[in-house]
Amino acid sequence: MSFVVATEKLTKKYGDHPVVQDLDLRIPEGAVYGFLGPNGSGKSTTMKMLLNLIRPSSGHVEVLGKPMNRGTRRELLGKIGSLIESPPGYAHLTGRENMKIVARLLGLTDQHVDHAVRTVRMERHMDKKVREFSLGMKQRLGIAMALARRPELLILDEPTNGLDPAGIEEIRGLLRRLADGGVTVMVSSHLLGEIDKTATMLGILSEGRMIFQGSRDQLFSAARPDVLIECAEPRHAHSLLAREYGTRLDNAVVRVPGVDDRTTAGIVAGLVRERIGVYGVRRDEQSLEDVFMTLTAGGSL
Ligand SMILES: Nc1ncnc2c1ncn2[C@@H]1O[C@H](COP(=O)(O)OP(=O)(O)OP(=O)(O)O)[C@@H](O)[C@H]1O
Ligand SMILES: [Mg+2]
Repeated sequence: MSFVVATEKLTKKYGDHPVVQDLDLRIPEGAVYGFLGPNGSGKSTTMKMLLNLIRPSSGHVEVLGKPMNRGTRRELLGKIGSLIESPPGYAHLTGRENMKIVARLLGLTDQHVDHAVRTVRMERHMDKKVREFSLGMKQRLGIAMALARRPELLILDEPTNGLDPAGIEEIRGLLRRLADGGVTVMVSSHLLGEIDKTATMLGILSEGRMIFQGSRDQLFSAARPDVLIECAEPRHAHSLLAREYGTRLDNAVVRVPGVDDRTTAGIVAGLVRERIGVYGVRRDEQSLEDVFMTLTAGGSL
């Protein structure tokens, strides 16, 4: 598989404190890569290192098949569109005037600009001043600026931040259209629900470390749902198991967190030995949000 972004042990320290640590990012060509993590987990810092806006403390970044460094930066940035932290644009100028500045800087044709503006569905608003834009319009203008150069890779840092549900859905649709058109997209969020259905692949950061990277299905199987045991004497069963397994009693069902199949079998055998009739054992159903919370240990999501 060819990767549009690949990092090896990418690390950023401020003083002695690592804010991004040993990241091995792998973004396959054509993916919408959802880069998730609670506030302060290191998403923006990582994206800035991918773009060489800040220098890694250690580790290696490869983008579009080349190492990203001071020598290659200019050439590579010509193929990457990005929107990092707040949306760009001069507030006192109109959308159109802002796009003109970008076009002149990058040597883009009117056709490129028009195409980008149409893609984000901003044609009707381009004669308004940016300071009169809603947040969603600002984000979309920022994305149009990133898109106008027809990038092979688009890096968007929290493009849905502060948007209402309709605005979020608009961005989601846009990301899907872009991916269908062959652009690889990396998009960050601290809210799983905002990009979960759009992303073909997920990377989850917690305190600067990648705690999961893979598909949604792989995410579900990586996290072990609780085992629910239905038995004749749930209180007694719970009192026998609580100390060792941290069980909870949940509507007369004994809930056992985070155990594998073998341990589950051992627990059931133990209850039977105690002459407690076990008549139901199953895994709890988990939402993706639950899995995320489990993996990030309840980080502020
Ligand atoms: N220039 C800096 N100097 C010192 N610490 C920094 C600097 N930039 C970021 N940090 C710290 O690095 C950590 C990660 O920050 P970063 O902005 O990458 O997180 P994030 O995942 O993008 O968070 P958010 O969801 O709030 O945007 C934070 O604890 C932040 O305070
Ligand atoms: Mg950030």
